[in-house]
Amino acid sequence: MYENLIKLQTDALAELTAVADAEALEAWRVRYLSRKGGALGEAVKTLSTLPREERPAYGQAANEVKAVVEAAFAARQEALRAAALEAELTGSAIDVTLPGRAPSLGHLHITTQALRQLYAIFAEMGFQVYDAPDVETDDYNFGLLNIPPYHPARDMWDTFWVSQDATPDPGQRALLLRTHTSPGQIRVMRERCPEPIRVVLPGKCYRYEQISVRSEHQFYQMEGLAVGKNIRLTDLIGTLHEFAHKLYGGTGKLRVRGSYFPFTEPSIEADVECVLCRGKGCAVCKYTGWLEVAGAGMVHPVVLRNGGYDPDVYSGFAFGFGVERPSMLKYSIHDIRYYYGNDLRFLGQFG
Ligand code: PHE
Repeated sequence: MYENLIKLQTDALAELTAVADAEALEAWRVRYLSRKGGALGEAVKTLSTLPREERPAYGQAANEVKAVVEAAFAARQEALRAAALEAELTGSAIDVTLPGRAPSLGHLHITTQALRQLYAIFAEMGFQVYDAPDVETDDYNFGLLNIPPYHPARDMWDTFWVSQDATPDPGQRALLLRTHTSPGQIRVMRERCPEPIRVVLPGKCYRYEQISVRSEHQFYQMEGLAVGKNIRLTDLIGTLHEFAHKLYGGTGKLRVRGSYFPFTEPSIEADVECVLCRGKGCAVCKYTGWLEVAGAGMVHPVVLRNGGYDPDVYSGFAFGFGVERPSMLKYSIHDIRYYYGNDLRFLGQFG
């Protein structure tokens, strides 16, 4: 009975099992189920050519075939969709079972870490942190520190000038990038006078120098200043000894040599026993057994007076040292230019 319908259903289902992808499925759908020209629709149309009494039975049979074919289509469509998803999950480059990639976090710069360690060491000895400006006047950087314009000690610091106004008093107006942190001494003294002072002054310094593995035109210094009554050279040496011991560990043997700075009298240079060879002599200490740690001295009476303190009543000590040096020794960094070259391959090693 209605052989055409039976053949249609058999063919449709047989072809559907051979359908392997979405494209073939769509072609199959157009062939059999499309409203315009689809095989099933065409078969239903033949209804009108049948004798009237046969039409209901034919119509019912056609509807049954339609239901079977449509259900088979829906099942195939779902199976193909599931297969496509499975193929994408297993076959593509994305493996959703892999652990996620951790976002890369920044960290403190090696110099910031060094500064924080130094603050901690000096805080234990009662030193506060005092911030002074990077751009200074000629007066603060030199004049008030007992280095007048004609003084040969100016040759010790090659200077980046910011402006140089032609005024009757060039020392007052000329602006520069500080060549050391010592101008901060005058600033704290003028602010705190006549209170006793115990501060460290960290900051970037600038020198117009040939750049090399040993010298950059930007680097950090830390200055120390103590002013009060009865402050003596032995207080300075004791402070430096404690500092070197905490920073470098070991025996922390300290050696003091006479030196010269215009703003201290007497002036000294302090060395600590070489942390690498323990005094035996190596390439790092240039076979002397000692490492230079700081320039220092008793605050010069002229400088005390410039800060507002009467040198007959008050005395003080000051010291200054480079902040990069300790970490260069600790990590065997032989080139200071790495510090501010912003190469993450270098900086990333100190997270
Ligand atoms: N300001 C000196 C320098 O650059 C160091 C120093 C500071 C010396 C304080 C004595 C006292 O090089």
